[in-house]
Amino acid sequence: MAPSMAEQMLRNVENHDDDHLTNTPMVTLGDPALANSWEWMADLEAKPQMKYQELVELANSCDPFALVEEDIRTLAGGIKTLLGSDHPVLESCAKYFFDQEKGGGKTIRPTMVLAVSYALNMGIASSSSNSEEVTTTDVGVGASNRQRRLAEIVEMIHTASLFHDDVIDKAGTRRGVPSVNQIFGNKLAILGGDYLLSRASVNLARLRNLEVTEIIATVIEHLVKGEILQMKPTGQPTGTGAFTRYMKKNFYKTASLMGHGCLAAAVLGNHSEQERRAAYLYGTYLGQAFQLVDDMLDFEDNSILTGKAPLADLHSGLATAPTLFAAEEHPKLVDLISRKFELPGDVDEALGFVKQSKGLQRSRDLAQVHAEKAIEAIQVLPDSPARVALVALA
Ligand code: FPP
Ligand code: MG
Repeated sequence: MAPSMAEQMLRNVENHDDDHLTNTPMVTLGDPALANSWEWMADLEAKPQMKYQELVELANSCDPFALVEEDIRTLAGGIKTLLGSDHPVLESCAKYFFDQEKGGGKTIRPTMVLAVSYALNMGIASSSSNSEEVTTTDVGVGASNRQRRLAEIVEMIHTASLFHDDVIDKAGTRRGVPSVNQIFGNKLAILGGDYLLSRASVNLARLRNLEVTEIIATVIEHLVKGEILQMKPTGQPTGTGAFTRYMKKNFYKTASLMGHGCLAAAVLGNHSEQERRAAYLYGTYLGQAFQLVDDMLDFEDNSILTGKAPLADLHSGLATAPTLFAAEEHPKLVDLISRKFELPGDVDEALGFVKQSKGLQRSRDLAQVHAEKAIEAIQVLPDSPARVALVALA
């Protein structure tokens, strides 16, 4: 007698017949371990190759935000369409940061996804083997509809993580306006973030690309891991181990979304393994540089640029690159870091040590090393206005 369906299913489970489908990563970049890896980071002792002035000139050579301006202009509206709900409070909470009057943020992540898409699509514009419809822009080839949708999904996931982060950090403001938890309360901020994440996931599935789904799902895992690594640090408070943990945390919290977002754009466009790797490395290196600069800005009174109060990291007990470097020159910082700058006067004392040290300069150099690595990674792509824009962004 033929086995019943239930018996068959039980046998499949016992025999692990579909293990190869459920347990094997699809994303390879030549080696399954590399796609998720933060170990491709630049050597911590590496020195910048370019003069700072040369980088400034490259940055001024073109405006990357202008390149993708048209696509970014419709981004918030596109996201709001994806966020329709039959509950008015949930809907207005989830849409909170996509209203124009809230300033909309820097949109650096979708800008990267779009500019990388433009740069990659240059090479396939004339190829008949690619079925994706790409748009034409003032500078030539643009992004496909699915790459634009990916840019929206990436921004939705980032915004969801900020909703949750502001609850964890008890933040009262974000991007210079009251934070979502401040307006709607913690419970709705968490649920609003969950809703954003769920709508992003539905629309991710609708891209009908399993590899891209795996890439972006991995990013969500990484965001959570990064937050936990930051919340519950282990091991020695300073030294090489602490620095490596800091870079690992930055990969999970910041660089993974940027790197994997760019990689997903390359996968959606059916680009070659070499191009996927270039996109992933560009985004990941740039993400590390971005976080290092963000951590430096915390020491300067740049509240207009960052939308945050200065010294927020020290006040939350976090030792970032400038402090970790400074501790090599001022061992007294080790005690302050260990007790998370909790005693009265600790934050001011730590600030004094950082200012007297090479901590900020060494952090800037490390950021530059990563920016240079990002630039180097995309040299395999054809020369185009989009590639120039990616260099300028780095
Ligand atoms: C900002 O960090 C926060 C992040 C980059 C990620 C936060 C991730 C989570 C809360 C995990 C949950 C993830 C999802 C997808 C719901 P920060 O506090 O250093 O920066 P800030 O100064 O901008 O707040
Ligand atoms: Mg925060």
